[in-house]
Amino acid sequence: MCGIVGYIGPKSVSSVLLVGLQKLEYRGYDSAGIAIMDKSELSIQKNKGKIAGLVDIVNKRPMPGNLGIGHTRWATHGEPSKVNSHPHTNSSGTIAVVQNGIVENYMELKNELMDDGFIFSSETDTEVIPHLFEKYLKENFRPEVAFLRVLKRIEGKFAIALVSEKVPEKIFFAKNGAPLILAIGKDEDNQQKENFLASDLPALVPLAKKAYYLKDKECGFISQGTVVLSDFEGNLKEPNFEKILMKSDDIEKGEFEHYMLKEIYEQPDMIERILSHRINENKHIIFNELKLERDYLARIGRIVIQASGTSLHAGYNGKNFFEQFVKVFADADYSSEFRYRNPVVAGDSMVIAISQSGETADTLASLHEAKSKFIKVLSFVNNMNSTMARESDAVIDLLAGPEIGVASTKAYTAELLNLFLFALYLSSIKWILPKEDRIQLLDEIYTLPEKMRKILRNHERLKEIGAFLNTVNDTIFLGRTYNFPTALEGALKLKEISYIHASGYAGGEFKHGPIALVSEKVPVIAIVPQSEIRTKMISNIQEVKARNGKIISIITEGDQEVKDLSDYYFEIPPVAEPLSPLLTILPLQLISYYTALYRGCDVDQPRNLAKSVTVE
Ligand code: AGP
Repeated sequence: MCGIVGYIGPKSVSSVLLVGLQKLEYRGYDSAGIAIMDKSELSIQKNKGKIAGLVDIVNKRPMPGNLGIGHTRWATHGEPSKVNSHPHTNSSGTIAVVQNGIVENYMELKNELMDDGFIFSSETDTEVIPHLFEKYLKENFRPEVAFLRVLKRIEGKFAIALVSEKVPEKIFFAKNGAPLILAIGKDEDNQQKENFLASDLPALVPLAKKAYYLKDKECGFISQGTVVLSDFEGNLKEPNFEKILMKSDDIEKGEFEHYMLKEIYEQPDMIERILSHRINENKHIIFNELKLERDYLARIGRIVIQASGTSLHAGYNGKNFFEQFVKVFADADYSSEFRYRNPVVAGDSMVIAISQSGETADTLASLHEAKSKFIKVLSFVNNMNSTMARESDAVIDLLAGPEIGVASTKAYTAELLNLFLFALYLSSIKWILPKEDRIQLLDEIYTLPEKMRKILRNHERLKEIGAFLNTVNDTIFLGRTYNFPTALEGALKLKEISYIHASGYAGGEFKHGPIALVSEKVPVIAIVPQSEIRTKMISNIQEVKARNGKIISIITEGDQEVKDLSDYYFEIPPVAEPLSPLLTILPLQLISYYTALYRGCDVDQPRNLAKSVTVE
């Protein structure tokens, strides 16, 4: 997935573009580039590697101009290299394009264009767009019409921006399946309007004042003080701009060294904020944004959760919450599996999609699969302007605030809390859980923020564990019931930012194969808070010790028995078992963070990853 920016206005175009790209770098950081129009002459600078390298180049060779586009890349077609980086141009360099997404029929178009004598220089799918645009200009179509003809030819999910010396005062844009925001700014006397394009809000803060979230198959152009929007047929539309509420400090690191660390430490405040939104003074759980009838919710007999990565790990506990508190059948599956297995979903089923970004391609595809079977889809997303939010039958806002670190942390605990509250909400509608039990669980939830703060205050112990894990190359995470998903999530955190191989297993599965991995060099992280199955986890720990394995345990305060069996341990405050995943994950998030630091890894932008996987 990539990041796109566009700007037209009186400010330094290269500065606006480069700062915007830096704020979108979490979307991909293989390479970056900008194209700037100076009067009617186009200049391009692009570079393999992070945006900082491009900034150095532009500082040495300034690029004056009045409009421009920029791109930061996560490679899909063609290795990360300067020649494959965006913007891509036609042979004469008079047309430049940046794209997020994939032109799925690019080979067909590339062959057609090469037969027409067009010469390609990159391996990318994107490069067909400037050549196709030039082809239609040569056939004497007006640029606006030529652009619409290009959009008719390219297939796939994309967001694109295009500039051309033929129309040096315009930036063309189009959106179909990948996010793109149109935004406007005004200076003090409300005269000099600036126009922006961006893949995501952070690139627009604080310059732009109002934003319009383009819908699929919308396109148009921006020029000085003008915005023209239409559908792909050229039928004009009026953009409905909304005030941008995001503030700079929402997306700056502040006193933290990394976004990931900031977002880990934000979790206690975030939980308090979510609770203040979700529970009213009468201790009723409220989902104001939920547009589903109570009698529909009361009839639900089966819930199928589909998500990817961290969001699926939260979904696994969503399954537990719905079965325990709503007494309905619940399942959870990878989006990338759900979409292809022709799932059996009956009339009383509801599909739940969980996605921090609201743009994950597989989760979106599974949403469409469910809707093709006439099943309602409820999405839990952290971006209410995302494609998933727009295309679901109903949506619940995670209320986590912007999450910039590629490794998801606060979105995970926000997903757990919202799923837990939604389960209690459904339980009350279906008269399952007695009111006093619900109130007791809600009282327990209110203790979470302080318990989280206590855990975070003890971070020094976690640095020691990070230093130890820095010496190994393989790890095993074990957990059971509510903390089996914690084992999966803890393993994902460690592997994706420290590049240490980490596998998460249900403790009961350990003897069915994974135990063969145990050795002095393969430590086992055992998540064993106070619970009904604690003794089973202790058996797992003893099996490891009997084979000279090392144990790192996450335990409830005062658990001397497990302390005595552990090489390293970390204590969490006591908490009701169903809520323990909101606490047990915190030490694992910090352990992964410190291990990655010891390894010198790029915590916020791990290799090969991007914040949202908008391609399949
Ligand atoms: C989590 O740390 C990863 N970055 C990744 O697994 C992520 O959770 C997954 O891609 C799903 O993203 P989404 O929640 O935006 O759909």
